[in-house]
Formats: sequence, C-alpha cells, structure tokens
Amino acid sequence: MSRAIKAGASALGLLGIMWLTWAAPRPLPASQTAANDLAGLIARYDSSNCRECHEDIHQQWEGSHHARSLMGMDDWIIMGPYLKGGPLAIKDPAKISAAANFPCAKCHLPQLLPASDQAAAELARAVLADDKATVRKLNIGCVVCHGDKAIVHGRPEPGVLYGSRDIPDHPGRPIKKSPFMKSALFCGQCHGQGPVLDFETPIQCATLYGSYLHGYIPSGGGQTCQDCHMPGSNHYMPPNFNNRPETAERLRQALPLEVQAMAYRFQPKDGDIRPMMVVRTKITSRAGHRIPDG
Ligand code: HEC
Ligand code: HEC
Ligand code: HEC
Ligand code: HEC
Ligand code: HEC
Repeated sequence: MSRAIKAGASALGLLGIMWLTWAAPRPLPASQTAANDLAGLIARYDSSNCRECHEDIHQQWEGSHHARSLMGMDDWIIMGPYLKGGPLAIKDPAKISAAANFPCAKCHLPQLLPASDQAAAELARAVLADDKATVRKLNIGCVVCHGDKAIVHGRPEPGVLYGSRDIPDHPGRPIKKSPFMKSALFCGQCHGQGPVLDFETPIQCATLYGSYLHGYIPSGGGQTCQDCHMPGSNHYMPPNFNNRPETAERLRQALPLEVQAMAYRFQPKDGDIRPMMVVRTKITSRAGHRIPDG
C-alpha cells in the first residue's frame, strides 16, 4: 500500500479507511473460494460441528429464522416461485449461476455467491424438486456470522473464527477478537437499508436497518440490535413467526396501547339528544425500527 494512500486514510479518518478497503481488493480466503459442489458447501458451513461444545447456543440458533434462511413461514422454500417465473427464473438450465438466479442469497445465503456455478445449479435443482431435506441444510450458521460476516475492514482470514476476544487455542480454529460483531451494522449487513441495486435484477426485501439508522438513532435511540434481540448472547433472536402465540405476546409487549374513553350526550336543539364519545388512543412502539419490516 502506498504512503500517499496511507496518509490519505489517516487524514480522512473512518471514511478513508472504508475507501481503502474498497480500493485495495485482496484475494479471497479459503472459506470464500469456490466450493465445488453443493455437498461441499453444506459441509464447509455445517453448524453441527459446533454443537458438541456450544450446546445451548446451538439449540437457541436451531430455533431461529437464521437456521432456516431459505425457508419461509411454515416451511416452504422461498426461492421456489422465483426460479419458475419472473426475472430470476431459469432460462437455460446449462447457465445457472448464483448472481443471475440467486441474488437473494446476498442476505439469505451469502456463502452461495462466491461458490461455484455447479453448487448453484445443484441448489436450483433441489429447489425445483421441492427437496426440503437438502435445502434445509443451507442456512445462516455459526461460520457465516462468526467467519464471513464478522469483520468489515478487510476480509476474514481463512480458518479463523471471530468473537469478543482472542482465543488462539480454540478447538479446530483460532478465535480472533472482532468488536464489529457487537455493532448494529453487523446485523445491518443483511437486514437491509433499502432496495438492493447491486444485481441485474434489483431487490427490495428487508429494509429495517435503514429505519434503525435514520429513524431510531436520530430520535435518541441508544441500543443496538444485539441489546434488544440477543439478551445474554441468546441466539434464538425472536420474533419466531412460526410460533404465533409467542409472537403475538411479543407484539403486545412491543406496542402498548393506551385507551381513554369518555361518553357524553350532546343536545344541539330541544329534543335532539345525541350520544357522543371521545376516544383517545396512543400506541407506543418499543422497537428500534419500524414494524413490520419489508
Ligand atoms: C471441543 C469444543 C469446542 C468446539 C467443537 C467448538 N468450540 Fe467454540 N469454544 C470452546 C470453548 C471451551 C470456548 C471458550 C469458552 C469460554 O471460555 O467462554 C469457545 C469459545 C468460542 C467463541 C468465543 C466466544 C466469545 O467469547 O466471544 C466462539 C465465537 C466460538 N467458540 C465459536 C465456535 C464455533 C462457530 C464452532 C464450530 C465451528 C466452535 N466454537 C466449536 C469450545 C469449542
Ligand atoms: C438485503 C438483504 C436481503 C435480500 C437481498 C433479500 N432478502 Fe428476504 N429477507 C431478508 C431478511 C433480513 C429477512 C427477515 C427479516 C425481515 O423480514 O425483516 C427476510 C425475509 C424474507 C422472507 C420471509 C421469511 C419468513 O420466514 O417469513 C421471504 C419469503 C424472503 N425474505 C424472500 C426473499 C427473496 C425471494 C429474495 C430475492 C428475490 C430476498 N428475500 C432477498 C433479507 C433479504
Ligand atoms: C446471525 C449471526 C450469528 C449466528 C448465526 C451465530 N452467532 Fe454467535 N454471536 C453472534 C453475535 C452478534 C454475538 C455477540 C453477541 C453479544 O455479545 O452481544 C455472538 C456471540 C457468540 C458467543 C459468545 C457468547 C458469550 O456468552 O459471550 C459464542 C460462544 C457464539 N456466539 C457461538 C455461536 C455458535 C456455536 C453458533 C452456531 C450454532 C453461532 N454463534 C451462530 C452472532 C451469531
Ligand atoms: C447473513 C445475513 C444475516 C445476518 C448477519 C443477520 N441476519 Fe437476521 N435474518 C437474516 C435472514 C435472511 C432472516 C430471515 C430468514 C427466513 O426466515 O427466511 C433473518 C431473520 C432474523 C430475525 C427473525 C425475524 C424475521 O423477520 O425473520 C431476527 C429477529 C433477526 N434476523 C435479527 C438479527 C440480528 C439481531 C442480527 C445481528 C446480531 C442478525 N439478524 C444478523 C439474515 C441475517
Ligand atoms: C430498542 C429495542 C430494539 C432494537 C434496538 C432493535 N429491535 Fe428489532 N424489534 C424490537 C421489537 C420490540 C420488535 C417487535 C417485537 C417482536 O416481534 O419481537 C422487533 C422486531 C424485529 C424484527 C421483526 C420485524 C417484523 O417484520 O416483524 C426484526 C427482523 C428485527 N427486529 C431485527 C432488528 C435488527 C436487525 C436491529 C438492528 C438494526 C434491531 N432489530 C434493533 C426491538 C428492537
């Protein structure tokens, strides 16, 4: 890296550092190079490797939407309709690629984008065959968050996991400290600022991080996503829309409704008595962003 660029970075502070990251592409680490087939991709990101020692966290994660990121509510494959019709549909089965057919993977399965076209083609076949057993194995697992998505300044090092502190002798892979994992932007990488225009087919799905950044923070909000959604590092990260009673209760807590009502009678002229009512309602949102999202 040249001295001039370094000097520019210190003068411009944070902006400079971000620009540097953009300006100096580095080779992809092993965890981001192409996985040759779908089975290879699944094995590389398999979260069951971590269950043995992180049983509670694994169980919490298993109940979360992150553990079924290609499945919608009540277990349907979200990409099914999109591969059959519309701009993401497969036009030529010999030319399936993640960028053309699975831009949704940017947030729903980020490990697919750098994977091989063969892996994307096999996934497309599994989706079209409604092969839920295979599709359920693809998710936002431990290594997606604690590896690929865990740092933004630079690229994650191959074979390294990230957490709140350095643990060089962590079984299997060393752990390095990443303060970024505690920031709202960590979640914002996928929880959306607005329309995604990076692909040939623009997408709008989640935009909640935009609302957090432009609504909640400027009005004096002082908590991160993790503060509200991961108390005690809980990886269940509700709401879990498949658990309807639990979600309804969470929404009752999140949106308290105050009602004041007063009844009186109004007599505009003799013999004309009209019953009247004044109702004042106030709904307060305790969320750090608009709800619902999308
Ligand atoms: C053989 C046991 C074992 C396995 C397997 C294992 N870990 Fe760990 N892990 C540990 C221990 C022990 C610690 C340190 C816990 C402590 O002191 O709080 C730890 C710590 C961590 C931390 C750091 C927590 C922090 O303080 O921020 C992360 C992140 C982590 N493990 C992720 C993983 C992931 C992801 C996997 C699977 C790829 C995994 N671990 C597999 C035993 C294991
Ligand atoms: C910018 C990142 C991003 C992109 C791109 C994206 N999504 Fe999403 N999507 C999310 C997030 C985050 C959620 C869950 C949180 C929410 O809804 O706020 C979600 C939720 C969903 C849900 C609801 C899931 C459920 O369990 O109810 C469906 C269905 C969905 N997305 C489909 C798609 C499809 C299809 C595409 C591509 C055309 C796509 N998404 C592209 C981030 C994205
Ligand atoms: C959606 C992203 C995401 C996924 C998926 C994820 N983690 Fe985490 N994990 C985090 C974040 C963020 C923190 C830091 C939370 C905090 O400190 O507020 C964390 C913290 C941890 C910690 C430290 C807990 C502590 O008490 O300090 C361990 C250990 C851990 N994760 C292991 C795992 C394992 C094992 C898996 C897979 C079963 C996993 N994580 C999946 C985002 C994730
Ligand atoms: C790699 C991308 C990614 C990261 C990083 C990520 N999420 Fe998600 N998250 C998603 C997707 C995609 C879904 C929806 C999965 C589905 O149901 O299809 C989701 C679902 C959720 C849900 C369940 C509600 C819903 O609408 O499905 C919550 C809550 C949530 N995420 C919070 C967080 C928090 C808090 C963080 C940061 C600690 C985080 N997420 C980090 C992609 C991500
Ligand atoms: C001040 C606390 C707070 C903060 C900060 C916060 N949330 Fe939420 N979030 C809530 C509450 C409360 C709800 C609604 C109750 C529920 O459904 O669990 C909610 C709902 C959600 C949902 C479901 C949205 C829907 O369509 O129903 C997602 C996804 C989510 N939050 C993700 C995030 C992410 C990502 C961040 C950080 C950018 C974040 N939240 C910051 C409190 C918070």
